[in-house]
Amino acid sequence: MELSENALKVLRARYLLKDEQGRVIESPREMFGRIARSVAEAEKFYGDRACYWEERFYELLSSLRFLPNSPTIMNAGKSPGQLAACFVLPVEDSMPGIFDTLKNAALILQSGGGTGFSFSRLRPKADIVRSTGGIASGPVSFMKIYNTATDVIKQGGARRGANMGILRIDHPDVLEFIRVKRDAKELANFNISLAITDAYMEALRADGEYQLVNPRTGKSAGRLRAGEVFGEIVASAWETGDPGLVFIDRLNRANPTPAAGSFESTNPCGEQPLLPYEACVLGSLNLAAHVKGGVIDYDALGRDVAVAVRFLDDTIDVNSYPLPAIERMHKGNRKIGLGVMGWADMLVLLGIPYDHEKAFRLAREVMRFIRDASREASCALAKERGVFPNFAGSIYDAPHMPRLRNATTTTIAPTGTLSTIADCSSGIEPLFALAYKRFVLDSELVEINKYFLQMAKEQGFYSVELFQEVMRRGNLRQVKGIPSRVKRLFRTALEILPEHHIEMQAAFQEYTDNAVSKTINLPNRAKKEDVARAYLLAYEKGCKGITVFRYGARRGTLVKFADTD
Ligand code: CDP
Repeated sequence: MELSENALKVLRARYLLKDEQGRVIESPREMFGRIARSVAEAEKFYGDRACYWEERFYELLSSLRFLPNSPTIMNAGKSPGQLAACFVLPVEDSMPGIFDTLKNAALILQSGGGTGFSFSRLRPKADIVRSTGGIASGPVSFMKIYNTATDVIKQGGARRGANMGILRIDHPDVLEFIRVKRDAKELANFNISLAITDAYMEALRADGEYQLVNPRTGKSAGRLRAGEVFGEIVASAWETGDPGLVFIDRLNRANPTPAAGSFESTNPCGEQPLLPYEACVLGSLNLAAHVKGGVIDYDALGRDVAVAVRFLDDTIDVNSYPLPAIERMHKGNRKIGLGVMGWADMLVLLGIPYDHEKAFRLAREVMRFIRDASREASCALAKERGVFPNFAGSIYDAPHMPRLRNATTTTIAPTGTLSTIADCSSGIEPLFALAYKRFVLDSELVEINKYFLQMAKEQGFYSVELFQEVMRRGNLRQVKGIPSRVKRLFRTALEILPEHHIEMQAAFQEYTDNAVSKTINLPNRAKKEDVARAYLLAYEKGCKGITVFRYGARRGTLVKFADTD
């Protein structure tokens, strides 16, 4: 097994089992064995091939061609072992409701998962509270309490807690919400997004007003000019990266199980819309490991998709859920989210620049292949094990629709840590830099792009001086002595135009059941208008949401640095 130095550091610090004194007591091989064995336990519910599947799982994991989300790696085989990364909890408009959910969120955090919440049902600030004759403090103040609680509960004992906080654009407190993270001290454990409705987008297009609604009464609470609110959103996002947008009506139009509930939030990094009390297990295929001799090995990829889908479906059966309501919901829809990492590496291996038309075409081809293969695998499982229990009333409950074991099969996760373990580029992001230092826990890791190094040596332009210059700059733009074709191939995130970032997100979204995690990186000099254009373009292109980050803008970002502290 070929693990990089950085991968070993991360595994030792967080993933390998430890004894009570904190000494590591398993090797990476044993770790993969533990995961394969405990997930294959689920096979015993359905047949007598647990040993066979354990071996297949072990082979897939230990070759780093596929990894499940962090909680599975950390907790598989433990008792209790919570294996899912993504949760959404409802927040009801009452004191017991708000604090019951906070307690439940604490249990999820403790188990290693991340939670998303919509605070849209909470009555606005200064609204009446009949029971006490007092006035309400509003959703943002309760979010601050959730944030403080997250500070003291380290996730799964291993990493910083991640939350998503959502507010509808038509909530009366929307302006306070939009501005809250301009104060760097506020909501550091939250990514925040606005749930954007079609009605709002229509008002924005027409340069008109839209209606605010008090969620307690369902009645109008005044009107705002859509354009003015958009200006505030863009100003905050330009300054801090928050809020992102979630196109909530679009999400609900794609809801596979409307009879089981509707979407009001996503998980912390935005790639997984979920119903209240729903969970999802994610896993990512390493695309770089599926290139052989300069071409994509689709046969191997297809085989790996099938094994990965089975693995993720098994995960649901052996998971220890933090709450009975979540267990019921997850076992009702059996959502899994298979995605990819190492996309930028794959493009380098194929000699295609990230922002080339060919790359957008290939993104659609690859993701379509994975979606189709994952649905085929889910159908095969349904024949063996039955369709997901909420199938009746789902969008698949119709003639000519596939009979699936899983209400969704595909999601593109950020793979913040997984990509370090697999030593590949993260998710579908371009290379952020060709060489950089990064802090993981308390040690400094130096990352140098291995493909660039190899190419420099093979093509004879490697020298220590050149390398030091690349280290200093992080990209090749101004470095002399590098062929222009190589510069084009290794363009980094900030050299790629925002519209090309969005085009890539949209290409993957087209063939992804759930959503796509992507940061639209902007250079520091980007203007507010650039942010505005990006937000509108994401809507136009069919994305389910958008997150921007302007280089150097202050942000306690959870997306990019999810696992580095
Ligand atoms: O690479 P890894 O499996 O650790 O995670 P990721 O792909 O970066 O993030 C996937 C999901 O895991 C996020 O959307 C969150 O739901 C959850 N997560 C979390 O709860 N806490 C973190 N610090 C990072 C991720």
